[in-house]
Amino acid sequence: MPNSLAEPWYNSKMNPVIEVKNLTKVYGKRSNAFTALKNINLTINAGESVAIVGKSGSGKSTLMHLLALLDKPTKGTIEVDGVESTKLKARKLNQLRNRSFGFVFQQFFMNPNDSVLQNVTLPLKIAGTRRKERHELAEKALKTVGLSERVKFKANDLSGGQKQRVCIARAIVNNPKILFADEPTGNLDSATGDKVIKLLFDLNRKKHVTLIIVTHDEDLAKLCDRQIRISDGKIVEDTGTKAVKAKTTKIAKETKTKKGTK
Ligand SMILES: Nc1ncnc2c1ncn2[C@@H]1O[C@H](COP(=O)(O)OP(=O)(O)O)[C@@H](O)[C@H]1O
Ligand SMILES: [Mg+2]
Repeated sequence: MPNSLAEPWYNSKMNPVIEVKNLTKVYGKRSNAFTALKNINLTINAGESVAIVGKSGSGKSTLMHLLALLDKPTKGTIEVDGVESTKLKARKLNQLRNRSFGFVFQQFFMNPNDSVLQNVTLPLKIAGTRRKERHELAEKALKTVGLSERVKFKANDLSGGQKQRVCIARAIVNNPKILFADEPTGNLDSATGDKVIKLLFDLNRKKHVTLIIVTHDEDLAKLCDRQIRISDGKIVEDTGTKAVKAKTTKIAKETKTKKGTK
């Protein structure tokens, strides 16, 4: 059966959205070769919130870039929704990435001189969505992040927290299954960072977006259902999917209770 969020993840069994096998990444060649990831095996299920933690240089970003299909592994396979991605041609790969993923980075990559709206509609433009629909979807995403009043502002004229919220709006505008966030609060003060975190977890709980957060912030990691610890390119700890099972049961119960009281 295809993994689809049309069927709520909390009513279904564990639904793998990403499965990696024997993943290895070597940067450089010959005497310059550096193995950044060694033989990673990992399954991420729909609806999970996963923290990838570890010291600086341990391979967190490398792993995230591979999972998000932004880079190719040296060895191993990456299945997204049952599709083995390492064999895909660039066009199919871009399509898969554009349809299924959203990205939030530490350095708020934006076009500073474009408006908020132009920045948020960009993934839809790439996907070939029509102008009217682009604007509707962007406005909805900006509403979700509480920036409806800033649609026409120049991106550069926003505060750091607002910029990161624009990035989140852009990340969710295509209704992605998986949201990747690499140190999403790294450049924010703690109060602003907390708001961004709340927004990310709201998307996970309410819209069932699978959340994969790369962070060296242990407090942020603890908020996730699952923690995967990387050291020297290897997984040294994976708390697994137990927590998401507990969440699944809890939400299923809540849903039942609500239905029962109607
Ligand atoms: N493009 C690259 N070329 C060579 N080495 C790289 C490249 N990107 C990352 N590395 C090296 O791979 C290791 C892991 O990097 P990275 O995944 O960015 O770690 P983290 O995100 O945990 O800080 C580091 O030693 C880094 O220097
Ligand atoms: Mg990094």
